[in-house]
Amino acid sequence: MDSDAFVFFGASGDLAQKKIFPALQALAGDGRLDIPVIGIARSNWSDAHFREHAKAAIQKHGKLDAKAFQHLAQRLHYVRGDYADAQTFKRLVTALNGAARPLHYLAIPPSRFETVIEGLKAAGCTQGARVVVEKPFGRDLQSARALNAALHQSFDESSVFRIDHYLGKEPVQNLLYYRFANAFLEPIWSRDHVASVQITMAESFGVQGRGAFYDEVGTLRDVVQNHMLQVLTLLAMDPPISQDAEALRSEKLRLFQAIRPLSPADVVRGQFLGYHDEKGVAPDSNVETFVAVRLAIDTWRWAGVPFYIRAGKCLPLTCTEVHVDLKAPPQALFPKDPPHAANFVRFRLSPDVAIGQGARIKAPGEGMVGQGVELVAEPDTREDMLPYERLLGDALRGDATLFTRDDCVEAAWQIVDPVLDAAAPVEVYTPGTWGPPASDELIEGQGSWHNPSLDKST
Ligand code: BG6
Repeated sequence: MDSDAFVFFGASGDLAQKKIFPALQALAGDGRLDIPVIGIARSNWSDAHFREHAKAAIQKHGKLDAKAFQHLAQRLHYVRGDYADAQTFKRLVTALNGAARPLHYLAIPPSRFETVIEGLKAAGCTQGARVVVEKPFGRDLQSARALNAALHQSFDESSVFRIDHYLGKEPVQNLLYYRFANAFLEPIWSRDHVASVQITMAESFGVQGRGAFYDEVGTLRDVVQNHMLQVLTLLAMDPPISQDAEALRSEKLRLFQAIRPLSPADVVRGQFLGYHDEKGVAPDSNVETFVAVRLAIDTWRWAGVPFYIRAGKCLPLTCTEVHVDLKAPPQALFPKDPPHAANFVRFRLSPDVAIGQGARIKAPGEGMVGQGVELVAEPDTREDMLPYERLLGDALRGDATLFTRDDCVEAAWQIVDPVLDAAAPVEVYTPGTWGPPASDELIEGQGSWHNPSLDKST
């Protein structure tokens, strides 16, 4: 059944400005938001001020659609208060005005999750309700388990929606679709033909004023435990028996459980030069702003195939790309070809979207000498939904397919848990480079990193 009110904690925060208001306007524009929308935060604002704040946020981080915004503004209410104060929740009950199936979205720092859950429960706001929990979901396996236990005190697992906005992205959903809507990929999608897999999530910018948050988290927790492992799962999982939420998430779980927990030798951590000067960062911080990891998946399909993930801030460009290297032909019939013949599958996930198939063709001339070419499909992305629009719309309808289940989130933590914090040394790298040179050593023997390029001619 659809939720009959949308409540979000952290209404004056960064996430609300950048993602939630634009997503709410998009939902309103699509005629999918005919319920009260209640924002809660500490600032002493009126409803009118809150609406102005929402408008300014959309103008800054999206595009104002006057009609859709008016529809949203009419439904926007503001509740002021501290999350530890029972009065805040009394005011929420009044604002809910009898709504029986609210969706509560915790767009707040994880340290406040439990306080809000308790406040909601004490005020009787959890009955019939759903809850959306922002990432990071805990900071290690133990805290994730504790958070799951706290949530389950008040909500049934079927009412808990753990958000990972990567799963709401069109090209990420396409990984699942492309793999299982076509038959041609399956015969080569295993250790028989795949040599290695690389996932690169590069960002050319630094911590962008989020130093205090980032210094508590680091790259492994910020994007690897969630976004990157989710992408890996979609690439490597077996076909689910249906596209039903439980079937899909159970299949993902099987894959997560087959990934060997990381050991320090599988990890290279880096920190960009100048990170210590960022506001909110400890002067002696050894938190990583770059990480490269080598993963092993112990299944019949993937035994012996290394999966590499590399993510970082202040790298040469902003781009997320998957590169699947295929094995060379069994016989070197054309010995003048380079030893690593260019057979690969490439998925560009952002900033543009593409699927590429790398192959070799004969170069014109007398000899049997080839050249690498790539067949590229570039879907039209103009109509793509905002990830948060898709995910919040799904949560309002109770569709959990694109949300992480309790056992999956714990299994993902299990993989990174042994190497969190200072398990591997942190090496300084120069902003604008591809991280510390040690990341090249991690991949030695498997060719080299494929650095994505934004130049269409290469
Ligand atoms: C967030 C991380 O989850 O994802 C950020 O906290 C990161 O550090 C962001 O920049 C990247 O998301 P996107 O959608 O901009 O690629």
